[in-house]
Amino acid sequence: MLKVGVFGVGHLGKFHLNNWKEIKDVEIVGFYDPDTQNAKTVAAKYDLTRFYTIEELLNKIDAADIVAPTPHHFELCEAAIKKGKHVFVEKPMADTMEQGKQLVQMVKEAGVKFQVGHVERFNPAFLALKNITLNPMFIEVHRLAEFNPRGTEVSVILDLMIHDIDIVLKLVKSDVKNISASGVAVMTDTPDIANVRIEFNNGCVANLTSSRISMKKMRKMRLFQKDAYIGIDFLDKKTEIIKLQSTGDEDGFTFDIDTPSGNKTLAIINPPTESVNAIKEELLAFVEAIHSNINTTVTENDGLYAMEIAHRILEKISNTPTLA
Ligand SMILES: NC(=O)c1ccc[n+]([C@@H]2O[C@H](COP(=O)([O-])OP(=O)(O)OC[C@H]3O[C@@H](n4cnc5c(N)ncnc54)[C@H](O)[C@@H]3O)[C@@H](O)[C@H]2O)c1
Repeated sequence: MLKVGVFGVGHLGKFHLNNWKEIKDVEIVGFYDPDTQNAKTVAAKYDLTRFYTIEELLNKIDAADIVAPTPHHFELCEAAIKKGKHVFVEKPMADTMEQGKQLVQMVKEAGVKFQVGHVERFNPAFLALKNITLNPMFIEVHRLAEFNPRGTEVSVILDLMIHDIDIVLKLVKSDVKNISASGVAVMTDTPDIANVRIEFNNGCVANLTSSRISMKKMRKMRLFQKDAYIGIDFLDKKTEIIKLQSTGDEDGFTFDIDTPSGNKTLAIINPPTESVNAIKEELLAFVEAIHSNINTTVTENDGLYAMEIAHRILEKISNTPTLA
């Protein structure tokens, strides 16, 4: 039985509690949350023990699930790792690059498992591509959300775009060559909307737009590669592939088009998406990494790399004149 403690039981922490309850061979020892009103509600609703200090809960668990606001991630991760506990921490894994680097070092020294909550890796629309060879050369991303004060303690880059940054860095097997970015603080003190162009050494270009001040939601990534277009809809959990048909292929719905190099056959393929709960999947993967002593799916190095690119973007934005 893996003993888990949850640190922070606000909006997302409650989803984590619901999912932990469904995972077998896991015992939720209790939670720590300094908000007394919320803690009382959670203790009663989930029939769980509220711990009044971080240390007290850490002493009773094998793994810490950290779902507190980002400015508290470092102190909580540090306390857990120093006690030799495995850590699952929400994204971004820390507030500053210095903190992120320190956490990577601590994890290495303590030999614990560490997973970052880049939950889109477990989105059914992304998982549907696991058997497809991806080598994108142009990526267009839109992640638009309605305004919500939760999460605004950090910029839209660290709050929303970091999900796409992580996926793009996972997909493109090349180093980042250049970043250009612009962003505007409209409703808060940090950028609420931003557009970013990341150029990679292999020639791939990723163009990312994120907004937390939109009227409607969208979470789409479009990949263009030699002979294929791949659309990933993280919100509707659908995936579409349109590819040039090779001889012998018998995929999907096909139609012919005229091109300057002759008549070609295109196939439209909708790979089946499994109806899985991404949060449950990421927590299950974390448990599996602990039990089987394998790397977590989103390691501390992945988390740090996404943070590094996010901070480089923020630096570019701060050097650009904006409306703010
Ligand atoms: N992966 C995702 O898609 C996703 C989505 C939403 C939020 N998040 C991340 O989850 C984290 C929490 O977000 P939220 O929306 O649940 O916020 P929230 O404000 O709803 O909840 C945070 C909770 O943490 C508690 N808290 C504050 N300080 C604490 C501390 N030192 N120790 C323990 N608990 C503490 C608060 O009292 C509150 O109950 C953030 O880091 C956010 O970036 C990730």
